[in-house]
Amino acid sequence: MATYPMPDSDISLSVQAVRSLMPEVHVGIILGSGLGAAAQQVADNQGLVIPYSELPGMPQTQVAGHEGRLVLGSGELQGVALLQGRVHSYEGHAVDRLTFATRMLAELGMQTLIVSNAAGGIQAGYSPGDLMLIDGHWTLCDVQERDSAKSSLGKTVNSVGRCLWSSRLLQLASSLPSALKIHQGCYAMMSGPNYEAPAEIRMLRGLGCQAVGMSTIPEALAAARRGIEVLGISCITNVAAGLSDQPLDHSEVSETAGSVETEFVDWLFRLVKRL
Ligand code: HPA
Repeated sequence: MATYPMPDSDISLSVQAVRSLMPEVHVGIILGSGLGAAAQQVADNQGLVIPYSELPGMPQTQVAGHEGRLVLGSGELQGVALLQGRVHSYEGHAVDRLTFATRMLAELGMQTLIVSNAAGGIQAGYSPGDLMLIDGHWTLCDVQERDSAKSSLGKTVNSVGRCLWSSRLLQLASSLPSALKIHQGCYAMMSGPNYEAPAEIRMLRGLGCQAVGMSTIPEALAAARRGIEVLGISCITNVAAGLSDQPLDHSEVSETAGSVETEFVDWLFRLVKRL
């Protein structure tokens, strides 16, 4: 487990490293499991690539499908920073580590965060390959930054519950056509790393959740606390545990995400250009 407090000197060093290549970041995009193709496309189009290992304090990704690099856009995507891969709490990271990249981009001027994930579909009618725009969330995991409980910013955390998921961005995202089916619903963050027990999925369904994953909320909260507008996107990669006869595994998650990457990237970049 990482220890508290997180040295902020690391953040400053990482901010300096990025700033020397891109003075300001306007839009940050966190790409979840198997959704890294957007970063690859930017990298192939004169984007600048910084491996996480070159950013002081940045936690290193371990999970398959999480490349571990920051890609900075150029041309039309100037000011757009893509994080290809993230770390999870089940890898042993404390919240301050999970939010490191988000806090770094916030210091670089980020105004909009698009945070994506792979998720299991709970709602009937959600199929692998669909997208879900997040308009609410549910979690029992530790997702708050340590200082939020005691500082006045704690108030902000309470109030972001109402507006964490920007209705402006939800409207914009849902107005853009896509070959993919786009739903809107509530995301449950579970601690992982195991997939849920069927009974947990029944509970989450009863609580009004439409999709389930193991990430996203810490980054979204950290961004919202800093006044950044947040859009959350789940790629439904599988039917949640117990809702089909298939046993679940990570390769199914990566394969499904990979199968929609062309449409997802196309839709995502059309969205970013409208921000
Ligand atoms: N549960 C939790 N996390 C996930 C799932 C799931 O079914 N699919 C992809 N990430």
